[in-house]
Amino acid sequence: MLALLLILVSASSLPAPASGDEGAVPVINAFSHFCGPTSDADGLYQPNSTFAANLASMSAVLPKNASASGFSAGAFGRAPDTAYGLALCRWDYTGDDCGACLSRAFKDAVNLCGRSKDVTVYHDQCHIRFYSQDFLAGAVNSPESVASNMNNVSRGNVPAFDGLVTSLANAVADRASNVSGRYATGQAGFPPDKINVYGLAQCTPDLTTAQCRACLAGIIKQMPKFLSGRVGGRILGVRCAVRYEKDIFFETTGDMVTLTPLLDPSKGSSNTHTLWIVAIAVPVTVLICGFLACFMWMRRRRRRVYN
Ligand SMILES: *[C@@H]1O[C@H](CO)[C@@H](O)[C@H](O)[C@H]1NC(C)=O
Ligand SMILES: *[C@@H]1O[C@H](CO)[C@@H](O)[C@H](O)[C@H]1NC(C)=O
Ligand SMILES: *[C@@H]1O[C@H](CO)[C@@H](O)[C@H](O)[C@H]1NC(C)=O
Ligand SMILES: *[C@@H]1O[C@H](CO)[C@@H](O)[C@H](O)[C@H]1NC(C)=O
Repeated sequence: MLALLLILVSASSLPAPASGDEGAVPVINAFSHFCGPTSDADGLYQPNSTFAANLASMSAVLPKNASASGFSAGAFGRAPDTAYGLALCRWDYTGDDCGACLSRAFKDAVNLCGRSKDVTVYHDQCHIRFYSQDFLAGAVNSPESVASNMNNVSRGNVPAFDGLVTSLANAVADRASNVSGRYATGQAGFPPDKINVYGLAQCTPDLTTAQCRACLAGIIKQMPKFLSGRVGGRILGVRCAVRYEKDIFFETTGDMVTLTPLLDPSKGSSNTHTLWIVAIAVPVTVLICGFLACFMWMRRRRRRVYN
């Protein structure tokens, strides 16, 4: 009985399935992409050129290496045909999933940008950039991709919500820049709109703490301009990214930053009510039936004795 109760209680506290692309089977589509200038001949490579061969080698090596560690970057081939490339998976998207996401991104690069020597492709769980010039030496974050949820918090709550989102982003950025994985997540309740906010910050792990924090600061500074009032949004860059949503969209861990107490997601959920009714009604019914059966049996026995 206790086990049954425990199962029911734990089932009721499971996080709600996140909306969007984080279902059991992730749908991988190019989320956004940037092609360098394809009008001038210098920006394009020829099909059978040395650069094309260097790029082909890159598109095999980076996904493979990143599937082991989540990140890979390097220079392929000798000057003047060197191809510089970078591949990063979201920290909770690992192994073969990571490698497949990156391989897909390299295919997208050709489909979306043709033979451009300067391509960036963002998926939800991974991104790549390659270029004929060395962009790896610095920590430049452009080209960045901005997207937001269409929905807003109630009009009167916008300043308070923006303040909370900024605080959450800063708290998660502090943590992310200070751990070796350069990744952190956090959460906060927002009672005025009865929602929770879940946030994530990540940098490429080759950045120093200071570089990572500065990169994230650059993103956070732009958030009010693009994401004010929005219940979800993201600014993704080559070197660092910040994203927040009102639903859980990453793998939760025990070390998440919790900024303000979360609102109980079970409140008002009919699903949970049903579970509680079952949890209480089933044992009570079983008990009553048991007593009844016992009582009848004793009565019958007593009657038999007197007969
Ligand atoms: C590229 O090389 C392949 C074989 O190596 C050849 O069949 C093809 O015609 C070449 N394409 C161009 C544009 O040179
Ligand atoms: C990929 O991994 C191999 C084997 O560990 C290593 O030799 C190579 O340098 C790596 N390449 C890059 C670009 O990280
Ligand atoms: C949210 O707010 C933005 C800007 O204030 C507005 O353009 C947009 O239409 C709003 N979204 C909805 C779903 O009302
Ligand atoms: C960074 O981490 C170190 C040790 O892990 C800790 O002592 C320090 O307070 C942290 N700094 C910040 C800003 O979180």
